[in-house]
Amino acid sequence: MESMMRPGAMTGKVVVVTGGGTGLGRSMTEMLLGLGAKVCVTSRKLDVLERTAKELESATGGEVLPVACDVRNYEEVERMAAAAKERFGSVDCLINNAAGNFISPTERLSSNAFRTIIDIVLMGSVNCTLAFGKEWIANGERDKAILNVVTTYAWTGSGYVVPSACAKAGVLALTRSLAAEWGRHGIRSNAVAPGPFPTKGAWSRLVPGEMMEKFDMTKRVPLGRMGEHRELADLVAYLISPFSGYVNGEVVTIDGGEWLKGGGQFNMLEMVEPGMWDAIEQMVRGTKGS
Ligand code: HXC
Ligand code: NAP
Repeated sequence: MESMMRPGAMTGKVVVVTGGGTGLGRSMTEMLLGLGAKVCVTSRKLDVLERTAKELESATGGEVLPVACDVRNYEEVERMAAAAKERFGSVDCLINNAAGNFISPTERLSSNAFRTIIDIVLMGSVNCTLAFGKEWIANGERDKAILNVVTTYAWTGSGYVVPSACAKAGVLALTRSLAAEWGRHGIRSNAVAPGPFPTKGAWSRLVPGEMMEKFDMTKRVPLGRMGEHRELADLVAYLISPFSGYVNGEVVTIDGGEWLKGGGQFNMLEMVEPGMWDAIEQMVRGTKGS
């Protein structure tokens, strides 16, 4: 996977990627390995992690440690952090990428369904952040980076994915709060907010079956396309690298302009046929003095 950074730019760095066995986490892992980092990938399914580790090690020549861990469970997170430390000596960067999500009218959700998403997305990010942050601060380790994966509805909100929107908003607040609080400990805290990037995990739960044809997601994006995994992976690699050493508390949107298009009241005017604009202009100019 080609990167904007030079080969070896992340040599000596150890990164933990939650949800690193699939989708965007896997792509981030591949990019980081190519740049020389060592990576611990963690999620619930050990078989998936082990397969990813094997494939990426042979593709990049890098070193991957697969560790099973449900980020909802703090004891499991502590064990995962200890395993990464034992193997690599120390951890430099944490990428909170693991998530759970599905579309549903909110009134159909049980309390447990809502809590399940909050627990994975918000509490999972909190648990990992606490486990690594406590250790770094207690040991006086500096030059650390936390990168949280949110999405643009963390600040706009969105119907039909309300638990996820609430959880991602919390993760964004966590990002900004700790940037202020933990900066003095040499821990940077940033986030990325991706728009649509095709992955099996997201697409099967957010645009299942025929919905994909009915709701062409590219139509919502001014650039007229989905994101490419390497574009996000490159941004993530930069944000956890020393090259972004003065970036702290930032959320970088990478969505082809999608959320702004949804927000601007008159963006629907793209539906006006170009040939109609002469007549429209005349009507508007005709209001002068009226
Ligand atoms: C309503 C549902 C439901 C659905 C589950 N539940 N699916 N309710 N509609 N489609 C309810 C269950 O009935 C149960 O409530 C509760 O949610 C927990 O369900 P479990 O299946 O027991 O949970 P679990 O096994 O922990 O699985 C978690 C999961 C699953 C989130 C439901 O989909 C998962 O493992 N997802 C991980 C990967 C993922 O979601 N990736 C997509 C990320 S995409 P009751 O009351 O019955 O006990 C993303 C994109 C964001 O975040 C932005 C896009 C632009
Ligand atoms: P994905 O492949 O489904 O990734 C989610 C990962 O989280 C999986 O590897 C899953 O592995 C892991 N996970 C889920 N529950 C977990 C738990 N309790 N403990 C530990 N790991 C858990 O989907 P994706 O699209 O790559 O999503 C990655 C991130 O990007 C998420 O934060 C998502 O919100 C964000 N995002 C995606 C898009 C998009 O368009 N794809 C847009 C905006 C934001 P296991 O099942 O093995 O646990």
